Amino acid sequence: MTASQNTPNKAHAPIDFASIQVLTENEAKAVDQLILEELTSDVVLINQIGHYIINSGGKRLRPMLLLLTAKALSYQEDSHLILAAVIEFIHTATLLHDDVVDESDLRRGKDTANAVWGNAASILVGDYLYSSAFEMMVRTNNMRVMEILSKTTTAIAEGEVLQLLNCNNPATTEAKYLEVISRKTAILFSAATQLGAVIASADATTETSMAKYGQHLGIAFQLIDDALDYTSNKDEMGKNLGDDLAEGKPTLPLIYAIEHGNEAQANIIIEAIKTGDRDSFNAVYDIVKATNAIDYTEQRANEEAQKAIDALSTLPESEFKDALELLARFSVQRSY
Ligand code: IPE
Ligand code: IPE
Ligand code: MG
Ligand code: MG
Repeated sequence: MTASQNTPNKAHAPIDFASIQVLTENEAKAVDQLILEELTSDVVLINQIGHYIINSGGKRLRPMLLLLTAKALSYQEDSHLILAAVIEFIHTATLLHDDVVDESDLRRGKDTANAVWGNAASILVGDYLYSSAFEMMVRTNNMRVMEILSKTTTAIAEGEVLQLLNCNNPATTEAKYLEVISRKTAILFSAATQLGAVIASADATTETSMAKYGQHLGIAFQLIDDALDYTSNKDEMGKNLGDDLAEGKPTLPLIYAIEHGNEAQANIIIEAIKTGDRDSFNAVYDIVKATNAIDYTEQRANEEAQKAIDALSTLPESEFKDALELLARFSVQRSY
């Protein structure tokens, strides 16, 4: 096996994320402006927490995908701006809730909102963001848009609950894990790219292809997120390592390691999942590495990214289409 086959996510030249961001720079500024306007509430804590998490950064990948899709389809009006803001609001709401459920202390390189203000405040402000997203979406006055987004938020909630049911269960299969990440993560990516096609009045084939692109990219993105929870470092990722293990989350690196490790190795991981034991992180990490579980997870992510890229074939050639291809690769190559 060649080195590139061993580490498939390194098989391509590094992606320059900043050079992709430039393509939607003006739109992204307008989206950030909209986000800040929407965060203005006379309830002080909403302003505080909302600005805290929005201003901590984040890649803004989902709005970028929506903007690029609309531009790749020559969209000329301005609903893409509000919808990009809606998508980022929904994403941010899920993060506020997710950090409570996962008991995470660090996000975007800063203390999480739940660590600073507590769980109740995070949940309630997350709800506020969800509600604001729906208020903004209604302004587009487009029933298809509302249908897609309301189905999306329902599916995300289902994914999070399904994941809760799998926690501390070492018998969770790869198929069950994929069902969780499809709903909790990929569906929002898929909604972003599908909406870009819907507002651009794309034909049905293109709309389906763009939804498919987002879905595969989202799965690749979460597969890598779950690998990074073992392999990255907190300075680069802006999140603590080992949060998944501490929650007893049976992610693909662990599922694969249980299947391919010897009995002793499998038992260590099974026990760590059952108890949600952060202290066993080093032992678990060694087994995950030794069984090539990270390589396997990256390989699966690469396959999904390739399926995403294949789905772009219906788009006309443009720099926006090229950027969408690069973002699929970035989702696998990224270290943050
Ligand atoms: C984090 O998403 C949540 C996952 C689905 C893994 P991002 O990695 O896109 O988070 P930000 O917005 O860049 O912080
Ligand atoms: C993504 O899962 C959560 C959402 C889709 C909200 P994770 O729990 O792995 O995300 P991070 O690692 O906390 O960002
Ligand atoms: Mg989390
Ligand atoms: Mg994670």
